[in-house]
Amino acid sequence: MPEHTFRVNGEQVTVDVDDQVRLLWVLRDLLGITGPKYGCGINVCKACTSHLNGEAVNPCAIPVGELRPTDEVTTIEGLAGEELHPMQQAWLDHDVAQCGYCQPGQIMAAVVLARRAAAEGRVLTDADLDGLRNICRCGTYPRIRDAIRAGAARM
Ligand code: FES
Ligand code: FES
Repeated sequence: MPEHTFRVNGEQVTVDVDDQVRLLWVLRDLLGITGPKYGCGINVCKACTSHLNGEAVNPCAIPVGELRPTDEVTTIEGLAGEELHPMQQAWLDHDVAQCGYCQPGQIMAAVVLARRAAAEGRVLTDADLDGLRNICRCGTYPRIRDAIRAGAARM
């Protein structure tokens, strides 16, 4: 089987797997990185949201064969430094999670949204928050929105 080399959470990894296997299964089943969750597997629910070179992506839709050695994948496991990322801390402060299944993806999507708004020199708007499409079966959306605003203000 072909080998694929890329970076995950700051470290280079090489996996020996068919080109068409989606990144989500490489992360979870081959590398043991289970923060990105398997919800739909068809690029809809966004439970698997992670970062690829700083952009929010859904690894259930990315064939591992598309990754290059310089590509940097960041999962929720790689978000914190020595302390929690401000968005993670805001999640705790606002007691967002219910079952928790969707929450890694929610946080990873929120971080990219907040970074984008900051780069544009503006605060997050309701329209920004409305644009997030990560599904939460537990209906924690009001707390998610409060936490995103709080986390973004600390970034
Ligand atoms: S599992 Fe990736 S979008 Fe649903
Ligand atoms: S907290 Fe349960 S799906 Fe979102």
